[in-house]
Amino acid sequence: MIGATQQPVTITGLGCHVPERVVTNEELAQYVETSDEWIRERTGIRERRMASKEEALSDVALPAVNAALAQAGFEGQDIDLLIVATVTPDMAFPSTGAILADRIGATEAAAYDLSAGCTGFVYALAQAYGMVAGGLATRALVVGGDLLSRILDWEDRSTLVLFGDGAGAVVLEAAEEPGFLGFELGADGGGGANLWLPGSGSRLFDEPERYVKMNGREVFKFATRVLVQSAQDILARCGVSVEDVDVYVPHQANVRIIDHATRKLGFPQEKVVMNVDRYGNTSSGSIPLALADGVADGRLRRGQLVLMTGMGAGLTWGSALMRWSI
Ligand SMILES: CC(C)(COP(=O)(O)OP(=O)(O)OC[C@H]1O[C@@H](n2cnc3c(N)ncnc32)[C@H](O)[C@@H]1OP(=O)(O)O)[C@@H](O)C(=O)NCCC(=O)NCCS
Repeated sequence: MIGATQQPVTITGLGCHVPERVVTNEELAQYVETSDEWIRERTGIRERRMASKEEALSDVALPAVNAALAQAGFEGQDIDLLIVATVTPDMAFPSTGAILADRIGATEAAAYDLSAGCTGFVYALAQAYGMVAGGLATRALVVGGDLLSRILDWEDRSTLVLFGDGAGAVVLEAAEEPGFLGFELGADGGGGANLWLPGSGSRLFDEPERYVKMNGREVFKFATRVLVQSAQDILARCGVSVEDVDVYVPHQANVRIIDHATRKLGFPQEKVVMNVDRYGNTSSGSIPLALADGVADGRLRRGQLVLMTGMGAGLTWGSALMRWSI
């Protein structure tokens, strides 16, 4: 799916939150045969956050939601759409969307979860855009967050070292000037088994599996291809050149994947937001956490053109191009 937007809708609030506990590479080396050197060299990750036993996704996401609402100047009851992009909801049902709507008092909101792997946040942005632009919703909250530590095999070094926990939230509203300029979203279920959680739903397996399984090399090839293609496609559709983009916010999976995409697309390093070293891959939390870092370090300011591209389980990918307006 690809399209340039017709109606002006933008982001008016952004908030993020990560669990307190920092897990270093050295700590992981106590559980699996790995080293700080290997992890830093192959992934760029130094540390990640992990939720405590008492925390569920809604607990980690709630402070992010409250911060986004505060920046936009709204209360929970002002929200009429709440989408949570995640593969690690509190439970299958009720949805984490419904749980969060209850916790913020969003009694007028349609609330649900959306599953698109690490691309979930971009998918949810596009969906909320459509509902606000189409007049179905007035103020939407989009949450992207995951506690991937809950579904990792603590004996599998090829996945354990890559992921972390975190969440972000944004408020979307109609605006005078366009915020979002276009979206490109795609999926290839044929490649799904390269990054999957078999045994987590209605398909019965002979050997049920509770943990993430990944073919790292195939995902690497997929990721480098789609990050570039999706970005090129949306820029072309919106008539925008790479030089016009002020800030590039790719999914924070791995420094090598980001570097590859950055080089191929032709972005100078100073335009690229990178925080995978501190958080690892936080799945649906990755792009909002990176947006917040871009704001915090002064690179992402009102009026600037920002390109976000995600990719992940599904396999899925997606880009959103927007003019930042807060
Ligand atoms: C997982 C990934 C970092 C592995 O890096 P790589 O350079 O491709 O490494 P390889 O898979 O070729 O493995 C090289 C060796 O390192 C080993 N290895 C894997 N994980 C390791 C770890 N944490 N510590 C030490 N050694 C490790 C492998 O077992 C392999 O050993 P072998 O040669 O004896 O078989 C890389 O493939 C990757 O980033 N893939 C994409 C993953 C991703 O981003 N997923 C989420 C997408 S949303």
